[in-house]
Amino acid sequence: MPIQFNEKTREFHIFNNHISYIIGILKNGDIEQCYFGKKLRSREGITKRFYQFGPSNAAICPIDSDILFTPTVQRREYPNYGTGDYHFCAYQTEQSNGSRINNFSYRDYCIHKGKDKIPGMPATYGDDVTTLELYMHDETSQTDITLFYHIFDNLPVITRSVRFTQVGDQSINITRALSFCLDLPDSEYEMITLNGAWGRERYIDCSPLHQGIQEVNSNRGISSSEHNPFIALKRKDTNEDNGEAFGFSLLYSGNFTALAEVDSYDKTRVAMGINPFEFSWKLNTGENFYTPEAVLVYSDEGLGGMSQALHSLCQNNIMRGDYKLTRRPVLFNNWEATYFNFDEEKLLKIASSAKELGAELFVLDDGWFGKRDDDTTSLGDWFTDLNKLPNGIGSLGKKVKDLGLKFGLWIEPEMVNEKSKLFREHPDWAIGVPNRKRSYGRHQFVLDFSNPDVIDYIFNLISKVFEESKVDYVKWDMNRYLSDIYSPTLPPNRQKEFFHRYILGFYNLYERFIEKFPHVLFESCASGGSRFDLGLMYYAPQAWTSDDTDGVERLKIQYGTSLIYPIVSMGSHVSAVPNHQILRSTSIDFRANVAMFGAFGYELDPTILSDYDKLKVSQQIAFFKEYGQLFQYGTFIRLKSPFENNNDCAWMVVSEDKKTAIVANFKVLARPNTIKDMIRLKGLNPNFDYATESFVFGGDELMNIGFPLQLEFNEFPQNADQNNSYSHSNNKGDFFSELIVLKAK
Ligand code: DGJ
Repeated sequence: MPIQFNEKTREFHIFNNHISYIIGILKNGDIEQCYFGKKLRSREGITKRFYQFGPSNAAICPIDSDILFTPTVQRREYPNYGTGDYHFCAYQTEQSNGSRINNFSYRDYCIHKGKDKIPGMPATYGDDVTTLELYMHDETSQTDITLFYHIFDNLPVITRSVRFTQVGDQSINITRALSFCLDLPDSEYEMITLNGAWGRERYIDCSPLHQGIQEVNSNRGISSSEHNPFIALKRKDTNEDNGEAFGFSLLYSGNFTALAEVDSYDKTRVAMGINPFEFSWKLNTGENFYTPEAVLVYSDEGLGGMSQALHSLCQNNIMRGDYKLTRRPVLFNNWEATYFNFDEEKLLKIASSAKELGAELFVLDDGWFGKRDDDTTSLGDWFTDLNKLPNGIGSLGKKVKDLGLKFGLWIEPEMVNEKSKLFREHPDWAIGVPNRKRSYGRHQFVLDFSNPDVIDYIFNLISKVFEESKVDYVKWDMNRYLSDIYSPTLPPNRQKEFFHRYILGFYNLYERFIEKFPHVLFESCASGGSRFDLGLMYYAPQAWTSDDTDGVERLKIQYGTSLIYPIVSMGSHVSAVPNHQILRSTSIDFRANVAMFGAFGYELDPTILSDYDKLKVSQQIAFFKEYGQLFQYGTFIRLKSPFENNNDCAWMVVSEDKKTAIVANFKVLARPNTIKDMIRLKGLNPNFDYATESFVFGGDELMNIGFPLQLEFNEFPQNADQNNSYSHSNNKGDFFSELIVLKAK
């Protein structure tokens, strides 16, 4: 068993070939964090705990005769507040007498193969998982907590979650319930977070830890594009390939917090979970409350090793459904081609032209329902607009399928416009405080998904649309953050449950759709990439990465996203130029070379493409069909960061057997008077010989000497003067990109 309990030393050792996670039971029944890192041999008394005592003898301690035994300096697994530990705490409950003090102590444990689902929430799964359950009890409040630990046989990953159970006859209020807490013995780390905004999601930020609390969070109701539910801690000298890094994330799509606190003794406490701001949960006798599941990765192979572990976990142990490990269909989406201005004829022209170019899926985006000619109206009225589609959505779906394409549809089920039949009939279904005017976002309100009647209504209505149109794919959008929080269906003392109940309602709706339409491929979306999180990957195995489809912009967005999310999860499309978000023009090759590293598609009108671009698109799609499985499921390796000099970016994918690799190289702006760059590749087999179109290299050469970039681009530029020695043949102009296919001979 990869989890052992030593009765004598009262230590649990959770391990596989990569990592060890060791926790112990302290003499007051608290659980101590002893070690998380590279695998250690199992030995009795493996971690002798020598506390580093603080200078003060007056530290608060639970045992009067042992003044040095103090939570102030202990490394604790699920710390409370109020008995001597003054760092941020992992949980807090309020009891019927108004006390907020808890003190749980260890009771028992259970180790078993496999892993249970978390009711109503996403959870990792797999045949190769072993679970440790630690049972803790608080005598005074008569509350139980269970700490869950899960280890996967072949990944450097631990996942954790917590269950609260009220056993006493008085209810409690949980006011804070983080999913995990990890105390590390030192603070020599830099903290990486993925931050941004609409159009520039998940930019990498890295700064050294310092004494005090560093936090990213969301209070927007969804995970948000401002901060992703992810942090990594890395050593100063850790790079892509070497050095230690921890990655932490959450299978959760709602308000979160992710924090690191360095204390006066240079210990670091890291934790993640539901954002305690605007949260509380009333727990009655016999009821359970489950936290979301958290993912903890340890890598001693740099950030690359951390990302690969997360990618593998996401692909194999979080994503579900028909497309879990299958190349995703090449799609054409009509949004940027038509916006709201379309009819059946126009759509079918686009679909048939897309089919000619090789597309496999046609997606009808926003604007097909109600009277939605702009974004001020009709959300909630999921009835086909017969002015645009006089024969109904079913007929359009059939015609698209008759062309030999799959059919996909856009929905935004969580929203309602003031101008809609739904709002007129059920104004109280939109989130809002009684007697207060609601705030708008994109002219719309958010439906109260904490109310099961709303979920039922939307499920029934949209199910009819899915049945009628026989959808193969659904783009589930969400275009504003939550505000004016209040639900008339909750009593006053439960209003702070709203945010979490909203997410539970949202997951419930997703699960019902998945059960009813098990073969549909779902793609999540929230004004681009505002809801990109591991929780959603359980329901929708791909997410629209950003509304910003400019190739240059996408380098940073996709590079940052790849820190945690696998390539296959990133919806990435080639759009028209000048680009609609940033008005930049790049070549169709540049845009496609970026977009192919993702769930690939096009977001433009193929009927108006030049013959040259049409030819290019058909070649790109043919190429993608040949290598799509490798692009989407190969091992993704970052080579050059676009965050470093804003100009160069390179990455590659390698097949599992290392026989095929594709290297992508991008140079945003050209520079005069340069020589060809060499780039050292990674992840190849040093003993293989790899052929490009015209050359053969040893795998060892490619990884140690490097690959000469722009190797296959030796033609003299058309407009350069060959007789002018100041003209430089290495310069390919701005927005240069190349894809190099390497095949083992
Ligand atoms: C925002 C999405 O990110 C876009 O791709 C598009 O679907 C629009 N919404 C439609 O309103």
